[in-house]
Amino acid sequence: MPHVTLPRIGTAQAWRDAARGFLTAGVPPEAVTWGDSSVEAGLFDDPATGTGSRPVTVPRSFIGLANTVVFHNDPARFARLYAFLWRLKDAPHLITDRGDAELAKLRQMEKNVRRCQHKMKAFVRFRELGGPADPRRSFAAWFEPTHHTIEPTAGFFTRRFADMDWRILTPDISVFFEDGTLRFEPDHPRPTLPPDASEDLWITYFRNIFNPARLKVQAMQSEMPKKYWKNMPEAAAIPKLIAEAPARARAMALAGPTLPPRRAAAALAQQAANVSAWQGPSEELPRAISACRGCPLHRTATQAVAGEGPLDAALMIVGEQPGDHEDLQGRPFVGPAGQLFDQLAAEAGLDRSRAFVTNAVKHFKFVPRGRKRIHQRPNSDEIAHCKRWLDAEIRQVRPRLILALGATAAEALTGSDKAISTRRGSVEKGPEGVPVLISRHPSYLLRLRDAAEKHAARAEAVADLKQAVELSQNIDLKKYY
Ligand code: URA
Repeated sequence: MPHVTLPRIGTAQAWRDAARGFLTAGVPPEAVTWGDSSVEAGLFDDPATGTGSRPVTVPRSFIGLANTVVFHNDPARFARLYAFLWRLKDAPHLITDRGDAELAKLRQMEKNVRRCQHKMKAFVRFRELGGPADPRRSFAAWFEPTHHTIEPTAGFFTRRFADMDWRILTPDISVFFEDGTLRFEPDHPRPTLPPDASEDLWITYFRNIFNPARLKVQAMQSEMPKKYWKNMPEAAAIPKLIAEAPARARAMALAGPTLPPRRAAAALAQQAANVSAWQGPSEELPRAISACRGCPLHRTATQAVAGEGPLDAALMIVGEQPGDHEDLQGRPFVGPAGQLFDQLAAEAGLDRSRAFVTNAVKHFKFVPRGRKRIHQRPNSDEIAHCKRWLDAEIRQVRPRLILALGATAAEALTGSDKAISTRRGSVEKGPEGVPVLISRHPSYLLRLRDAAEKHAARAEAVADLKQAVELSQNIDLKKYY
């Protein structure tokens, strides 16, 4: 009886060649035995000589199935495949016969191999070998696959790491990619790999993406089976992360809300518009603003800063958000930007005490740096969250004109985040149809270093304020929109 010993490298091609030979020679499955080179040939076995002339055609999907199943670790895989192939030659429909027990077994084996390939792609961890002076970076990994998945998965690593040298050593065969050439070698001992400087970083990253509130230990262990852990640096962190998860999840549930993603801004703006009508008595609006916990900015700010001024003002002035001084004093525009605004207003003949002055965002957003609190521009979500309060103030005051100072105010009032440089001096439509005159924020002037630029920007700012006074007294909306 012929016995085929298949090589451990090039197994798929060798099995196909042998199977084709036996099939064309009409050798039935029971007349041949199969093994890989780790299995000794039986005492009475003949070397395989499968050649013949009967042309055979095989469904294409069987080739795909066989090309995967040959890498399973079941010693009977080659014989099973050949037995199925033998039946298939006279009954090609068997390849789609869901009731066929042999096909079901082969499909299951195919699934196991594919899963093992997937694990290899996900869990191989490389360590860098070479030095900085080497022409190509060089990496090595030790991996212990369940099936013989090195050969069929090598292409994935070649495509992904084409510009470096790497090797994946395993107790089975090992793969080397050097100077753009791929080769396989059997029986490499487990290497001692150098420690990796980026491993701590990787563990930290893993800790940070671990969400304790979504922990499902069984599902996690089925995705990342324990047998792979010993070669994965981040696995060392897992037991502690699991142990701490319930307490961390409880703390997360008790903590305040986090901001939704940026793409939710449109929906939030809509939502804010729906809830923006402040129904309570007007004198309670500042207190309601103070109590706002709608976004995380309240956690670090000293207090919310509501608008101030006459509730029948013809002009409303809207800035970005309270700064350091405003946060401490609880009043808008009292710091350096506010003082500059007062100078510009005096030049333009604008009486600030007759305007209602407020901000698009009511809490100070900053990052601490040493003893300073550095201003941070609010993002679109924060602007959208705070819009309900700005809308409530607009409904309360019903101004004839709103002056938007800077990009944040302009975005909150018009919904557009286009650059201020192309819009300043123009009138756009705002909430409730109230016209919005766009101008630069005074802090823009404070940042300018060039004297000529500063002079020109200041003249423009004064011109905008003059226009604001004029329009708030007598605006012809038809002229604008
Ligand atoms: N900048 C603003 O936009 N508003 C303030 O209240 C202070 C500085």
